[in-house]
Amino acid sequence: MKKLFDVLVIGELNVDIILHNIDNFPEVGKEVLAQQMTLTLGSSSAIFASNISSMGASVAFLGKIGNDEFGDVVLRDLKKKNVDVSMIRTDDQLSTGATIVLSVKEDRANITYPGAMDHLTINDISKDDLSKAKHVHFSSYFMQPGFRGDLGKLFRLCKELGVTTSFDMQWDPYEKWDLNIDDVLPYVDLFFPNEKELLLLTGKSNIREAIDSIKKYIKILAIKRGNQGSTVFYENNLRDMPPFLNEKVIDTTGAGDSFNAGFILKYINGFNIEECQKFGNLMGAVSTTAAGGVKAFENYENVKKTAKNKFGVIL
Ligand SMILES: Nc1ncnc2c1ncn2[C@@H]1O[C@H](COP(=O)(O)OP(=O)(O)OP(=O)(O)O)[C@@H](O)[C@H]1O
Ligand SMILES: [Mg+2]
Repeated sequence: MKKLFDVLVIGELNVDIILHNIDNFPEVGKEVLAQQMTLTLGSSSAIFASNISSMGASVAFLGKIGNDEFGDVVLRDLKKKNVDVSMIRTDDQLSTGATIVLSVKEDRANITYPGAMDHLTINDISKDDLSKAKHVHFSSYFMQPGFRGDLGKLFRLCKELGVTTSFDMQWDPYEKWDLNIDDVLPYVDLFFPNEKELLLLTGKSNIREAIDSIKKYIKILAIKRGNQGSTVFYENNLRDMPPFLNEKVIDTTGAGDSFNAGFILKYINGFNIEECQKFGNLMGAVSTTAAGGVKAFENYENVKKTAKNKFGVIL
């Protein structure tokens, strides 16, 4: 069957309300002023979808929003990035989630109301939806309680349908790391934790031991290591790859999702794993050159310019 999309992203959706340059963190009973405000598409899954779409993949999103203004912002911003939104479920009874970001000096304090993203479940997804794409990417497991216990089933279904799969579990805000590894990882083609997440998930103190504990399930494991680059485990080989170092990091938000996007784009186009890792590192580095998770990926011309001017790579 001819596939409609290269990638179907299943994940959380919300908006970010960013209050910039607050002088001091507000105390209860007092008020402070922000110098600037931005209302924008938030969520790690949406950053991934937007950026892999900017890189040239045809992308659809499946998630849940409310029938409200924030839902409209989510749809508008995804459409702007050419992401197909026809599989996004709108629920009249729910509100679209929002994260209020208080940007104080160099740091940020976030408050999230998850809203509709808490309510997406496997029952919202049909075989027909999954069959529309060559590849399914699922992100932010711990932010989506509707998939507790069902993620293995979702990935199994993808594999039965001949769809390749990737998984970025992201941080667990509850810090319990309650993921049934035996049930989920055997059906994941590409697993994308960062180093800290992998160690916490496996309960090990170094990468080697962590890999040993899950390697019987692993096809391709790409471990993101910030300004140390990445480590990939594939067919019993371990490869550390240094980053395209950015001397002047503007913002690391979305570096992980941009790494995933670069890696997966090459993977679904049949490149070897070393090429996938290299392009992942490059896209992660490109992401750090602009504020927010999607700014550096406004269009592919921009990406090419940044790759050439900042990292000396001709795309
Ligand atoms: N300072 C940097 N300079 C160059 N490349 C970087 C830098 N920080 C990150 N990267 C690249 O981006 C990749 C992903 O970044 P990171 O390790 O921060 O992912 P993450 O922790 O999953 O991020 P996120 O917060 O987006 O979930 C790294 O593996 C690296 O290749
Ligand atoms: Mg991450």
